[in-house]
Amino acid sequence: MVKIAKLIDGNRISKDIKNEITEEVKELKETRDFVPGLSVILVGENPASKVYVGSKQKGCDEVGFKSETIKMEENVSTDDVLEELEKLNKREDVHGILVQLPLPPQINKAKVLEAIYPDKDVDGFHPVNMGRLVAQQECLVPATPSGIIEMLKRENITMKGKNATVVGHSEIVGKPVSLLLLNEWATVSICHIETGDLKMHTIDADILVVATGVPYLIKGDMVKEGAVVIDVGMNRITRDKASRELLEWRKNDFETKGATLIGDVDFLRVEPKASHISPVPGGVGPMTIAMLLKNTLKAAKNIAGIK
Ligand code: GUN
Repeated sequence: MVKIAKLIDGNRISKDIKNEITEEVKELKETRDFVPGLSVILVGENPASKVYVGSKQKGCDEVGFKSETIKMEENVSTDDVLEELEKLNKREDVHGILVQLPLPPQINKAKVLEAIYPDKDVDGFHPVNMGRLVAQQECLVPATPSGIIEMLKRENITMKGKNATVVGHSEIVGKPVSLLLLNEWATVSICHIETGDLKMHTIDADILVVATGVPYLIKGDMVKEGAVVIDVGMNRITRDKASRELLEWRKNDFETKGATLIGDVDFLRVEPKASHISPVPGGVGPMTIAMLLKNTLKAAKNIAGIK
């Protein structure tokens, strides 16, 4: 008999989280006339960034936050962005600030991220928040990594004492999720592009988190029986690049959109071995927005001194 893994439904979990936030926002409005506010800076015309920012704005509307997108021209300078951030840092109706990445090459990303007031840094990318995460102090944690931990907790998956392997060492996902898993007492291995024998590390993992942007990186024989697999990859595959198997599996996507979205894990081979697996789409993706909203609520309450 083929064992089927339990799909971790990010759409359902993120809906639950958004419902919880909506309830709290309603109460804050009614009892204190207080509304959390998020400001997003979007520089240039990157099509993917526009889609992401649109989803963040929609999420804010759904839970009852005030939100705005400040659009800046592709050719603006670092100082132009810093000037905008200075205004947002001072505004009392803005509790969360986010600069959508990537930024055009002329802009100094580090300077921009460091200019955000850490208590309004709902992306958790400011070095102060990263430092607090390392020091296990109260802080704003990046949304995708905290979404992964939230998924595991809500699925009652124990992290304590487990072997966790993280493939990918980015500042946005790999590094922070490794620290969060460590803080939950998992034994963590971090793999990256220079890792010589990737399988040696993945095959040992009770919990495997993959965030590389390389489709089909994780094959069936690289995963332990009963592992929990979290796929953070988001790879858009057009019809001309798709295998015959993918064309068949995602027939509807190719017919309606000419492309499909897959993760970094060879889902059809890995799913039968895993005890739990997050699909793409519908896994980690929706969690990111939900956790950004949760961060914004947390920042707003902290700034307003609400417990
Ligand atoms: N670009 C891709 N992911 C993210 C994210 O989580 N936050 C921001 N600001 N930009 C991104």
